[in-house]
Amino acid sequence: MPSHEQTVQNQFDPRAEAYRRSAVHAAGPDLEHVRELLARAALRARKALDLGCGAGHLSFALAPHLERLVALDPSPGMLAAVSRGAAERGLTQIETCLGSAESLAYPDGSFDLVCSRYSAHHWSRLEAAVHEMVRVLAPGGHVLLIDVVGPPDALVDTHLQAMELLRDASHVRNRSVREWRELLGAAGLVEREYRQWALRIEFDSWVTRMRTPEARVAAIRALQSGAPQEVRAALGLDADGSFTLQTGLFWLTRAPRASTARD
Ligand SMILES: C[S@@+](CC[C@H](N)C(=O)[O-])C[C@H]1O[C@@H](n2cnc3c(N)ncnc32)[C@H](O)[C@@H]1O
Repeated sequence: MPSHEQTVQNQFDPRAEAYRRSAVHAAGPDLEHVRELLARAALRARKALDLGCGAGHLSFALAPHLERLVALDPSPGMLAAVSRGAAERGLTQIETCLGSAESLAYPDGSFDLVCSRYSAHHWSRLEAAVHEMVRVLAPGGHVLLIDVVGPPDALVDTHLQAMELLRDASHVRNRSVREWRELLGAAGLVEREYRQWALRIEFDSWVTRMRTPEARVAAIRALQSGAPQEVRAALGLDADGSFTLQTGLFWLTRAPRASTARD
């Protein structure tokens, strides 16, 4: 059997074009809001790192406000899509890097902004990745983390995570807001803002984008048709299988170092 890292590559490499065209990824209120955040934080002319850049939708939204942006992903197909998209848009400040969030080949304090959108639920070693995000962040720098957040209710959460894994073998886990807060706080990040939006998922395009095998699509449908009322209501489950996810956006800064007797 392939490792998780190989599964991620197998899943995403042939699907770069589908992610480039995906309406769910190409637009959204979160992308509108990050432009506002950047303007407010006066991050113009600075360096950013986008972890799990995919086909580059977050990178393209941020790059016009920055001097340099490194778009990082373990999928060469995704990076090729980012290079093409950057050239089409004249975004010469974007460069790509093949790599994983868990182990970054950059010195401490290299970036003013470290960000990630819709990728962390694929990271198998999330704590290591968050540690790396903080390590490469310059003093006074910002972290922007956007991902699907897991439902707080365990019953709903179990059904959602099962659907996600059946649809995409590289799914690890949608963390709840509480799990994220614990993890980010323990890594020394201070939350400045949190926003959440509902994201409607249209079933057919959701499974087509990931080329989910027929047998697994049937298993998701079986799971959905047996789902209890509480799950159907919380996920806004429709007869065609469409449902609603929640997207969370965390805007954070690195906590100042505690002063010691030697300072
Ligand atoms: C849904 S796409 C990302 C979407 C993109 N950020 C956007 O704004 O449209 C998820 C991406 O995460 C990448 N990924 C998976 N595991 C990763 C890891 N450990 N480190 C960095 N990226 C990873 C995948 O290769 C894939 O390109």
